[in-house]
Amino acid sequence: MRHFLDTVDLSRKELARVMELATQRQETLGWPLADYGVALIFEKPSNRTRQSMEMAVVQLGGHPIFTRGEEVGFDVRESVEDITRILAGYHAMIAARVFDHTVLERMASLNDVPIINMLSDKSHPLQSVADVLTMREEFGSLKGKTVAWIGDYNNVARSLAEACALEGAHIRFGCPKGYGASDIELKRIEALGAASVVQVASATDAADGANAVHTDVFVSMGQEAETERRLRDFAAFQVDENVMAATDRDAIFMHCLPAHRGVEVAADVIDGPASRVVRQAHNRMHAARGVLAFLCEENDITKGDTK
Ligand code: CP
Repeated sequence: MRHFLDTVDLSRKELARVMELATQRQETLGWPLADYGVALIFEKPSNRTRQSMEMAVVQLGGHPIFTRGEEVGFDVRESVEDITRILAGYHAMIAARVFDHTVLERMASLNDVPIINMLSDKSHPLQSVADVLTMREEFGSLKGKTVAWIGDYNNVARSLAEACALEGAHIRFGCPKGYGASDIELKRIEALGAASVVQVASATDAADGANAVHTDVFVSMGQEAETERRLRDFAAFQVDENVMAATDRDAIFMHCLPAHRGVEVAADVIDGPASRVVRQAHNRMHAARGVLAFLCEENDITKGDTK
């Protein structure tokens, strides 16, 4: 059974297939989820992921059911395994946003139903598919392009780097000391097929000649207790006009959102002509549809093309 817990659950060829499906509409995709449910469980808040996944399920003919994490109560109200086995009887797939990635691994290990990661402490693969889709729209191909990540090497950065490596891009990390990727991690990403992987401790060095600059909040959900220290440590890593001035002339700015203007990004950058954040967020729905359609193909979920 195929799941989608990490971007690297896909080969380079499979990521290309997901991209292809993401650009197709109902006339081509049919209704593979007709008469099926998809459970969407959120242990953390969401705007983009919930809305885009719900709409993507609907576009494939299915019925999404949103549930808050505390309602199912992973390992509190019931075991992760019991919850998964029960929901597998109602739904064609289960998607979850969890604090702990191992919860997703335990769900997937049952192989009762395909499991989709809607963000964990380790990764955010659905975001990475939308990010690549957005950059492909801009550049055609990412092969040989330079993608800079400025900020924390977090779950979003890991998934983006994996996707960009599969696409053959040059990857540049600009991270404060102590917040970057380990040498082992940098080598792992390079081995996925990246043109090169470099980590520097300066935002402008990371952005030098880059085609796309990505960042994320400096304090993620669950890190609120570290706010003061993080804001101090990341102070020199705001993506502002000086950072964007170091990029390629036609470079774009991207952010998975939500954003804090004046913290990780200057308002005139995120609201300026180089910004693609709205398109990127809209692409979350197309990316989700591509991933769902791919999992339908791979897992022989083919209800038919009529509702
Ligand atoms: N980028 C992202 O995952 O947004 P939400 O947290 O609003 O889903």
